[in-house]
Amino acid sequence: MGPGDLMQVLHHLKTGHEDHPALLTGLDDAAIYQINPHQAIVQTLDFFPPVVDDPYTFGAIAAANAMSDVYAMGGRVLFALNIAAMPPDLDKEVIAAIFQGGADKVREAGGVIAGGHTVTDPEPKYGLSVTGMIDPNRIFRKGGAQPGDLLILTKPLGVGVLTTALKRQLRTEDSPALKAAIANMLRLNLEAARVLGRDSTLIHAATDITGFGLLGHASEMAQQSEGVAFEFWVDRIPLLPGAFELAAQDVLPGGAGRNRAFLLGETANGGRVVTFAEDVSDTWQSLLFDPQTSGGLLAAVPAAVALGLVAELQAAGDLWAAIVGRVVAAQRQTGMIYVSEDAK
Ligand code: CO
Ligand code: CO
Repeated sequence: MGPGDLMQVLHHLKTGHEDHPALLTGLDDAAIYQINPHQAIVQTLDFFPPVVDDPYTFGAIAAANAMSDVYAMGGRVLFALNIAAMPPDLDKEVIAAIFQGGADKVREAGGVIAGGHTVTDPEPKYGLSVTGMIDPNRIFRKGGAQPGDLLILTKPLGVGVLTTALKRQLRTEDSPALKAAIANMLRLNLEAARVLGRDSTLIHAATDITGFGLLGHASEMAQQSEGVAFEFWVDRIPLLPGAFELAAQDVLPGGAGRNRAFLLGETANGGRVVTFAEDVSDTWQSLLFDPQTSGGLLAAVPAAVALGLVAELQAAGDLWAAIVGRVVAAQRQTGMIYVSEDAK
């Protein structure tokens, strides 16, 4: 669902979450439920149709994506349940390979698959309901970015564009561009969360980049922080090989258009939160709205530690980690995003 439609649905939903004493999060894509002063459960779920052809790889990507919100909040994974919808005539070996991919990825995360539920549906879908643990005093929040912070992104953008190219048979799964996209989707945000969470002074705010694209998720961070705006510098933003060329040919997933319409205020609920400098090309604008599957973390960190953190992230295997922008004091309204070609 696009961000505008989702907001309309959730607007009238009555859950009682606002004044529940144990629930430390609002309505979000993951929940934190406090058990005692030192322990909270973090619970999240995600599932979607295949993004690649190979069933084992699809299962592993879906699992990495579903676990991402646990890492985006600074937690660790305990166990997970499968959520699956499979066509009745789909080869049992294919279904088994999807589940095996998911199970192996959960084990890599230090957790275990403990069961699940499968229904029949013409279009296959797979994902997980994930249970993790978190220290309630060391939660990464979306709000909390401060003027002067630098913004670190841990994975390259362009996954939505490249999986769309695969779907339209413009690229094959063994092309270098798709291989890079798949490697990034398969990479857990575990190490990134460990590096950023090692010391509670290192990080002011964080989120993971998924369906709403870099600017959609960044705008949630900026709006939940106080009195700030975010600046992004296009020439610093890591991009998967081939993504620019394909985006320039309008090989874009449907979600990119929905994200753009919402953030540029072209829908009923649109916030007009993003302003592009004149030198930011239309292709780059599309890429910043591109929905990511199992995308990286975006973190607002004090400027003094940013370069050191990027080096540590890269040493831990997040090779694309980069400083991509900064947090400034809001001029008028909080939560605005400015995008320019480079840092001026
Ligand atoms: Co999510
Ligand atoms: Co998230």
